[in-house]
Amino acid sequence: MSSHPIFRYYTASTLDGYLADPDDSLDWLLTQPIDEGGAMNYTEFIADIGAMVMGWTTYRWLLENEVSDGKPWPYDIPCFVFTHREITPIADTISVVTGDPGSKRDALVAAAGGKDIWIVGGGDLAAQFADARMLDEIVVSFAPVTLGEGRPLFPRRYDLELVDTARNRAFVCARYAVVGPRPRVAS
Ligand SMILES: NC(=O)c1ccc[n+]([C@@H]2O[C@H](COP(=O)([O-])OP(=O)(O)OC[C@H]3O[C@@H](n4cnc5c(N)ncnc54)[C@H](OP(=O)(O)O)[C@@H]3O)[C@@H](O)[C@H]2O)c1
Repeated sequence: MSSHPIFRYYTASTLDGYLADPDDSLDWLLTQPIDEGGAMNYTEFIADIGAMVMGWTTYRWLLENEVSDGKPWPYDIPCFVFTHREITPIADTISVVTGDPGSKRDALVAAAGGKDIWIVGGGDLAAQFADARMLDEIVVSFAPVTLGEGRPLFPRRYDLELVDTARNRAFVCARYAVVGPRPRVAS
């Protein structure tokens, strides 16, 4: 294991590599059985996390689905929302940022306070972090469903190393180390 902070993309996906429906529904995910104390569970994961990162669509999903009906923002760690929009964050732990992840590295590392950094999604933002050499591992719980279209898990060519696998009820859980961009080879 490398030294802190580790940049971790921890997510769930359909078998065919989507994070969400084209209309951002997570119905296919939230209806699956999962053991909250089982393999690669969220509680163990979040204990090592000091700061989190997400794109605009993911932030909007949280506002519409987790913060509605007067519920508070569900995270107390610093959160960086990447967007080009001028928005007023819903909590004072949220920073609104734009541009290359590399330009935010120092701020992210400082905010994480020696702990790891969670790249929540989406997939293109996670890939931007990889391109900036700010992605160490990808942990995916694959649900037993295909959608054929939607928000992509990781829309780039990269080599990964499979480090660990496990089953958590309906999910196949896999931990990968990020190796690097995969060049195109002419056939
Ligand atoms: N399955 C899961 O466990 C899981 C995990 C995470 C997310 N999700 C879901 O998956 C979907 C992901 O949506 P998405 O693919 O659209 O990705 P996203 O990263 O959530 O949002 C993409 C948007 O973020 C902004 N953005 C990205 N990079 C930026 C940068 N470098 N600088 C400034 N702004 C930047 C842009 O929005 P603007 O230019 O419009 O500001 C871009 O259109 C959401 O529905 C989310 O709820 C599911």
